[in-house]
Amino acid sequence: MRRNVVAGNWKMNNSFDQAEELLSAIADELDKIKTKASEVVVCPPFPYLEMAKDIALECDFGVGAQNVSQFDAGAYTGEISASMLASMSVKFCIIGHSERRKYFGETDETLAIKVKQLLANDIEPIFCIGELLEEREANRHFDVVKEQMEKGLFHLSADEFHGVIIAYEPVWAIGTGKTATSEQAQEMHAYIRTLISKKYGQSVADDITILYGGSCNAKNAQELFANKDVDGGLIGGASLKAEDFITIVQSF
Ligand code: 13P
Repeated sequence: MRRNVVAGNWKMNNSFDQAEELLSAIADELDKIKTKASEVVVCPPFPYLEMAKDIALECDFGVGAQNVSQFDAGAYTGEISASMLASMSVKFCIIGHSERRKYFGETDETLAIKVKQLLANDIEPIFCIGELLEEREANRHFDVVKEQMEKGLFHLSADEFHGVIIAYEPVWAIGTGKTATSEQAQEMHAYIRTLISKKYGQSVADDITILYGGSCNAKNAQELFANKDVDGGLIGGASLKAEDFITIVQSF
């Protein structure tokens, strides 16, 4: 079902103590809100997941990981499997973030396996797609996003696809302070929904949650979320400040 979701991607930030402080501050702020405008998910680094889950228990926010292995189990030093996350009751996982594609060589083919791993373990993938600046400037942004969707997601059955959250994150907008305009975000989100509709039918397309990510902050979230095909945000920098994050959560 289509939902309003605001997810914080902490990336590789914060010590354990800082993470605990930030999570407690988020929990306190969420406690004060009578009616939450969106579902809240926080994705801290792996070593903080258990602590995050303990804090989340008291105030109802989801906890997600930032990556998962494509492998089931075994001799894969340093990897974390989907079944391990499931055994800790982690309910969400970001995959395909452009930073993982860029620095860790993740390909659409690997992501196609990772998304299956997550779904098989009842974890909601937050699947990131988005074009580079030079691709937008060459007017190739629609083609790039189409290819990422086709190669990374369109091997799923309609039932499986229902369990995926998509995050459109134009790479040129990530951490740059250069947000996509409201029109650019809406245009791409509508296009993504059209692709889904052609592949899986209109009702699946209408049901899918599509988040925007890339310099989304407390000041611009409301304008971005007002677009009919933008169902929330995947927030980087601004998710590291409790007050800003909560303002974004309430920006619908
Ligand atoms: P910023 O919000 O810091 O631009 O990061 C966005 C992002 O990469 C979320 O996954």
